[in-house]
Amino acid sequence: MRITALNQDLADEVLKLMNLGSPYVRARTPSDYWLYARLFASTCPVALVDGLVVGALIGMRSQEDPFEIYIQDVMTHPDHRRRGVAGALVDIVRRRGREWGCRRIYLTSEPDNARAYAAWTSMGFANTPGDYTTNGVSITRDFKGLGKDRAVFELLLP
Ligand SMILES: CC(C)(COP(=O)(O)OP(=O)(O)OC[C@H]1O[C@@H](n2cnc3c(N)ncnc32)[C@H](O)[C@@H]1OP(=O)(O)O)[C@@H](O)C(=O)NCCC(=O)NCCS
Repeated sequence: MRITALNQDLADEVLKLMNLGSPYVRARTPSDYWLYARLFASTCPVALVDGLVVGALIGMRSQEDPFEIYIQDVMTHPDHRRRGVAGALVDIVRRRGREWGCRRIYLTSEPDNARAYAAWTSMGFANTPGDYTTNGVSITRDFKGLGKDRAVFELLLP
């Protein structure tokens, strides 16, 4: 597996990969991927196997709090799961965060995304206390706007 930063040549393949992520990940538009490659490439690693895109992570460093990185989407191709792809992508962002002196990487997942819960906790993310609990997962009400309850996960950097 090779990991590289998102670039314009990979943007279309990353969009296609994200299209396989329903119901938990939805592809954004081509101009969104253009923008991620243009402005946020260093926190948008892409995993390739034999030249094919098998995983991608879209993350951004906050402008409001430059010591935070938000991960918007993580997706591994269904044929390549449980092989450490997502872990390797998160490691790249974790390393980048350390280089920048960031304190926190965080992300959200849908309340019923048990696979994501297992992945984030195994990578050292903590499920931040929210407003209620579903199947042992703490959920923050309206985190992403009215009616958009989310499980929030954070990884504190030393
Ligand atoms: C969640 C997702 C990104 C994980 O990707 P992955 O490449 O399979 O994850 P990794 O192989 O790096 O897994 C790391 C660890 O997470 C845990 N894990 C990952 N998937 C798991 C599953 N289905 N069941 C239980 N544990 C799981 C395991 O502890 C795993 O380590 P192990 O395989 O050595 O036991 C992937 O399932 C996916 O793309 N899902 C669809 C999109 C999605 O839900 N994205 C997240 C949105 S918040």
